[in-house]
Amino acid sequence: MLFAPSGALAISMAMKLARLATGRHKTLSMWDSFHGASLDAISIGGEAAFRRNMGPLLPGTEHAPPCDPASCPFRCGERCALRCAEYVDYVLDREGDIGAVIIETVRSTDVQVPPPDYYRIIRRACDRNGTLLILDEIPICLGRTGTMFAFEPYDMLPDMVVMGKGLGGAVFPMAALIARRELDVAADRALGHYTHEKSSIGCAAALATLEVIENEGLLEKSRAQGATALQRLRQLKDSHPVVADVRGIGMLFGVELARDGRPASEVAERAMYASLARGLSFKVGQGNVLTLSPPLTIAPDELDRALDILDAALAEVEGLRVLR
Ligand SMILES: Cc1ncc(COP(=O)(O)O)c(C=O)c1O
Repeated sequence: MLFAPSGALAISMAMKLARLATGRHKTLSMWDSFHGASLDAISIGGEAAFRRNMGPLLPGTEHAPPCDPASCPFRCGERCALRCAEYVDYVLDREGDIGAVIIETVRSTDVQVPPPDYYRIIRRACDRNGTLLILDEIPICLGRTGTMFAFEPYDMLPDMVVMGKGLGGAVFPMAALIARRELDVAADRALGHYTHEKSSIGCAAALATLEVIENEGLLEKSRAQGATALQRLRQLKDSHPVVADVRGIGMLFGVELARDGRPASEVAERAMYASLARGLSFKVGQGNVLTLSPPLTIAPDELDRALDILDAALAEVEGLRVLR
């Protein structure tokens, strides 16, 4: 385990370790993904807002379509046929010298949760091709999805996991790279070496975070409270025509807005400001998905109030359209 003061830097260490361990510099990652804002992280990231007009990015950083029904080029239809996972296998096999596949286990910007078999196929493809599997769980491990690590329900193990954000109790910059024991091959190299990489306050915050997760049963709470909140969000979908889809896992929720079958980005932004005015803050992902990630320690009545605010904000923005 190696520490770093930010998620992007921990990703950078993972990329370096993959090069050292495999002797290969190439990576395969996903379009529309986010792994941090530094040049190496945007090279494997897939968001145009970070990449466009930035000049040459790292060589050998190849990309594949993510598991995302909204942008799927394989047109699987109603049910995902996992052609995106098969495509990863195809690219690894054709290219032959890709060192690492890097994926956000669950894409948190708009809450894309791949089906159960997705990672089984990817893991098998990596094993067949001598490629390492690196999972970016920076915003979602430590209970956000209802388990300590988001990959746990997929019944396979990655070669490396990158964590961050919540590791410092969400207030102190603290990230980490965890790798399989066999990847402990860099004793004579500097993968990190950052001024604040082993900050004593950061480590105290991380230990306190782990203690609170255990002592307050936050994993079970995330699953139970998350299921209740998701039920309520589904009711919002029934009462607000602008809500096209509601997704959730643990305490991570995505509320996708659309009008006439098209992403309703303007409405999403207005809903965010209408919520902010009432005291509720959240992010908008991929333009039209309201992404809610309440603290795992939230009290049930606070969560209820947050959903009341969202309900009222959606009613307001839908009303605005009628008034126009
Ligand atoms: C999936 C993912 N990876 C990497 C990062 C980068 O972390 P940091 O901002 O600490 O560099 C983030 C931050 O939002 C993230 O969500």
